[in-house]
Amino acid sequence: MIHIRVRRGRAEELRQELIGKELLDSTRKILSDGDSVLIPITKEIDIPGTELVEIPGEEREGRLSSLREALAGTLSDEELALVPASFDIVGDIAILKIPGGLENRKKTMAEAMLKTFKNIHVVAEKKTRVRTKYRTMKLGILAGEQRKETEHREHNCIYRLNIETCYFSPRLGSERLRVAEQCRDGERILVMFAGVGPYAVLIAKRSKPGEIYAIELNPEAFRYLEENLRINKVNITPIRGDVRQETPKLGKFDRILMPLPKDAGNFLDVALPSLRKNGVIHLYDFAHDEEESIKKVKRSCNNLGYRIETLNAVKCGSYSPSLFRTCVDFRVI
Ligand SMILES: C[S@@+](CC[C@H](N)C(=O)[O-])C[C@H]1O[C@@H](n2cnc3c(N)ncnc32)[C@H](O)[C@@H]1O
Repeated sequence: MIHIRVRRGRAEELRQELIGKELLDSTRKILSDGDSVLIPITKEIDIPGTELVEIPGEEREGRLSSLREALAGTLSDEELALVPASFDIVGDIAILKIPGGLENRKKTMAEAMLKTFKNIHVVAEKKTRVRTKYRTMKLGILAGEQRKETEHREHNCIYRLNIETCYFSPRLGSERLRVAEQCRDGERILVMFAGVGPYAVLIAKRSKPGEIYAIELNPEAFRYLEENLRINKVNITPIRGDVRQETPKLGKFDRILMPLPKDAGNFLDVALPSLRKNGVIHLYDFAHDEEESIKKVKRSCNNLGYRIETLNAVKCGSYSPSLFRTCVDFRVI
């Protein structure tokens, strides 16, 4: 079985890249080997700084291999090969992108998923891409309970949400932790584009910030944000409205998060004046690599009259096979 060897520090970034390229083999476990990690893949790929190794690997019990087994008598070999190698699970809802050749088998596949994975109670399919102002997508229910609301657990936090009316990605858990780990006690923090609260809640739970504000425009996401603050018992000020109008009313911050990769750069004119001296911004972007995002951020800040120092830049997911979600952490100097 082919695995790709990568040094431990780069493993999560590579895992995200492989998910984006639909090359991660979810039927097998990711293995540890000293300072490196072995990630199972479905096809050979040449990525600088990694090495391909052929080892038996280890099956993940109850995972996709069992789904393929459950469907073996029902689907043809050609159809079985099309069963997605991985899918998102938000709370107890599995979200599938149905490949062309499985359109008239999707109900059968969804029923098999319910039987195979005891933690899944609803199987939904993506009907559109994430394109709206609120970054939501249309979903249809293929099998299980007729609901789109669920509770997702991540890093000891709970997020209640409706997967169709709110944006939420379970793939960003480690990225949220990366940012939360940088927050220091006593900081005044602004989470722009807060969604149902995953960044703000995690930061509030992990450190003792002086104050956290969370701004969200989508009324439905805002309703869940308020609910999630109660459920997680955290002290955060939620603000319903547009970042452009609301930010200037809030004073200055030590740290500002801008998790809107499609458009965050267009809000730097409101973020930069709201940053304290030595304050840090975490800005999300879609780009071919980290360097492209760094250049874009530097250019935008320079055009607005600010000089910046990049602290870090990472890939943290993908939008298409060649376009990645990136995050640039920077300080104004
Ligand atoms: C990509 S989602 C990220 C949500 C959340 N931070 C997360 O990681 O799950 C971006 C969010 O920004 C919100 N949004 C978009 N434009 C906005 C604006 N101008 N002001 C406030 N929120 C906005 C959307 O409704 C959406 O919930």
